[in-house]
Amino acid sequence: MCGIVAYVGPKDAAPILLEGLQRLEYRGYDSAGVVVSNRGLKMRKVKGRVADLAAVVPARFRGTLGIGHTRWATHGAPSDVNAHPHLSADERIAVVHNGIIENADELRAKLEADGAVFVSETDSEVLSHLIARTVEDADSLAEAVRGALKRVVGTYGIAVIDAQRPGEVVVARNGSPIVLGIGEKEMFAASDVAALVRYTRQVVHLEDGELAVLKTDGFTTFASDARETAKEPLTVDWEAGHYDTGGYEHYLLKEISEQPETVARTLRGRLDDRFHIAHLGGLNMDARETRSFRRVKIIGCGSAYYSGQIGAQLIEELARIPADAEPASEFRYRSPVVEPDTLYVAISQSGETYDTLAAVQELKRKGGRVLGIVNTVGSAIAREVDGGLYLHAGPEVSVASTKAFTSTAVAFALLALHLGRVRDLSPADGRRICEGLRALPGQIKEILALEPQIKELAHKYAGSPSMMFVGRVRGYPVAREGAQKLKEISYVHAEAYPASELKHGPLALIGPEMPTVAIVPDDELLDKNLTTLGEIRARGGRVLMVGHREADPRLADDCLVVPRNEIELDPILLSIPLQIFAYHAAVALERDVDKPRNLAKSVTVE
Ligand code: F6R
Repeated sequence: MCGIVAYVGPKDAAPILLEGLQRLEYRGYDSAGVVVSNRGLKMRKVKGRVADLAAVVPARFRGTLGIGHTRWATHGAPSDVNAHPHLSADERIAVVHNGIIENADELRAKLEADGAVFVSETDSEVLSHLIARTVEDADSLAEAVRGALKRVVGTYGIAVIDAQRPGEVVVARNGSPIVLGIGEKEMFAASDVAALVRYTRQVVHLEDGELAVLKTDGFTTFASDARETAKEPLTVDWEAGHYDTGGYEHYLLKEISEQPETVARTLRGRLDDRFHIAHLGGLNMDARETRSFRRVKIIGCGSAYYSGQIGAQLIEELARIPADAEPASEFRYRSPVVEPDTLYVAISQSGETYDTLAAVQELKRKGGRVLGIVNTVGSAIAREVDGGLYLHAGPEVSVASTKAFTSTAVAFALLALHLGRVRDLSPADGRRICEGLRALPGQIKEILALEPQIKELAHKYAGSPSMMFVGRVRGYPVAREGAQKLKEISYVHAEAYPASELKHGPLALIGPEMPTVAIVPDDELLDKNLTTLGEIRARGGRVLMVGHREADPRLADDCLVVPRNEIELDPILLSIPLQIFAYHAAVALERDVDKPRNLAKSVTVE
């Protein structure tokens, strides 16, 4: 996804912008550019990596004000010309833009009829032309930007500079994040705090419709009607070190390996050994209200959705409330019936996923009560919901989600315990779950120690063109997430099915060339699962079983035995070997593990 960085202050802007762009690389991009202001605008932009851009920025690229961008092509192929920034014809205005301008064709036609000459194929270039048209007569750059944005339909996060006003940057947000960073006599802005944490921890998130003017000595924010708004800065606890690989070959392996600590952080201060309950003050609900819900609906996208499926199962089992999960993108488009006695839970690592945010906004419009399970403090979804839990997993840099997935499942266990203990979950069961949760970090360490064995298995199976993942009830979301991890980082085709569904169709695919990963916990469904393994083996299918004991060699070619917890919590542990399996399959196939093709870290467009 595109990234934005902006700077105004006493220092040279270019090194700060390049450093910031580097921090945004993890989000995925295909070209990059910077512009600084110093008696006119100086710009460099290239198709390729930030390092390629740095190589063409000359040493004498001076200017204490500038904006930079990493582009993810939507309108027009990746190229030097389509890269941002975009300049107005007179080179007075420079703009970087994240998001999509839906009426760009119409605006472009009007501007061209009026004599404007476009140089790129992007939707974003209309912005520099529109702003340039009015900036001469406007009282301020902010006014010209506001005027241009009024004509635009679509989503944007933008940063704009004007060669004639070399002391200010204007940024604005509608659907695409912009965060201001407050420094000592300097100001920063970016689309992601990752670009700011090296310089400041004091940040301000813009709301949709807001615009901000940044100057060396501070910032002013405005609502869409030009009224000034008051903003409280927030302190972020993420550090620059979180964005380093810490000696690991890939962020993904680092993040998988961090899970004993990140799970411990998700649990910290939230388990009560006296009453065997979870303390979740952030829910902003008293016991009476907590008891009043008759249904729980969970929404999220991708891996967040799969962790929501684990969450739904936990809530049904522990709190005995009907619960289900649905992709947020589907939910928002089907005009959902919003019920007053349903508790809605939105999940997002980034807190910026557009489909999830839009679903939350739809729910709020219809009066729904929405909780958030979010990793990024102060993100758009966190600000939109009525309450919730932060994961405290630290920033997740690798595109594929691992530690946030696991922490989300743990957060659901806490929520299920909380909902259960104000209802019918007994103190004894509450204690059992509390103890199970406390055991997780140690057990995750035991799973991490299995890495050599998992690596060997990944090498053995990575050559298969396609793999099937199956699980039953608690094991099904584990299978779905296992298939998701494998396909997104290794590009090996992987399908996930409920084990019981195999014989209703997909069994036709099974043969020696399509191995199956079967999730087989030691629960009440063990015998049924073993029968499924027999069916697969009878069709010549190879089986890698992930469970709690070695299987009869007639049923499985290979077994990965993981520590056992409480049956309700086992899906959390069973997911982790599949992350390691996908990682080593991707490494064996020489994939770009942290930045898989065609994917971006947070999907802030529809
Ligand atoms: C998969 C993955 C994605 C995200 C999804 C939601 O490994 O990372 O499927 O889970 O794009 O992202 P968030 O959680 O930021 O809303």
